[in-house]
Amino acid sequence: MTGISIWRCEMQKRRVAILISGRGSNMTALIEAAKAEDFPAQIVLVVSNIANAAGLAIAAKHGIETLTIESKPFGRDREAFERAMQSALAERNIELVCLAGFLRLLTPWFVQQWDKRMLNIHPALLPSYRGLHTHERALADGVKIHGATVHFVVPEMDSGPIVMQGAVAVRDDDTPDTLAARVLSVEHRIYPDALRLVAGGKTTLEGGHCRTDASGSPDDALISPSII
Ligand code: GRF
Repeated sequence: MTGISIWRCEMQKRRVAILISGRGSNMTALIEAAKAEDFPAQIVLVVSNIANAAGLAIAAKHGIETLTIESKPFGRDREAFERAMQSALAERNIELVCLAGFLRLLTPWFVQQWDKRMLNIHPALLPSYRGLHTHERALADGVKIHGATVHFVVPEMDSGPIVMQGAVAVRDDDTPDTLAARVLSVEHRIYPDALRLVAGGKTTLEGGHCRTDASGSPDDALISPSII
């Protein structure tokens, strides 16, 4: 056996669950990325709180276990819903949770269970544009650069230490849909990269910030509009 194959056998991949509510394009990006042999995480479970969410069928096609735990029947008892989810995650020895279009506010209790072990992706450059309709609001403000953020989840919505951000130039003729499409393709790049860093033990949380033991950032600036 060569040194490389020994290393492959011994690499312990982190067990990841993805929580979704809808189409699951970020989920798909994570699943695809995790197929790489050197990826430090494996996607072992996809949970949806909405029956028939489109992402469920995609995950199943990739051979990943899927689970629907509908939030609706629990009504206002958010913790009861989360306890059901927590047991499913615990039963499968999940180590990291990725929220990917999971349209349900989480209680501080659930967030605490996954402190420093739960990531979310938000379609804006946080701390700008927390909440909904980020692309509409960015266009209404006339910003020239917009983007997406992967961050650790804390009880306060769309806050928490930022792991990675990706930016796009905003064009004068952008509509919320055209802008959303360009931001989404950035999301599909940064979520797998951020998970690679976190699952690979290359991030440290210090004073509310996430420091990264990665190769660094390029020096070239994104300037928008470009006058050339
Ligand atoms: C993405 O834009 C993500 O940033 C936000 O919800 C959307 C989910 O899309 N949190 P998808 O289900 O991953 O396609």
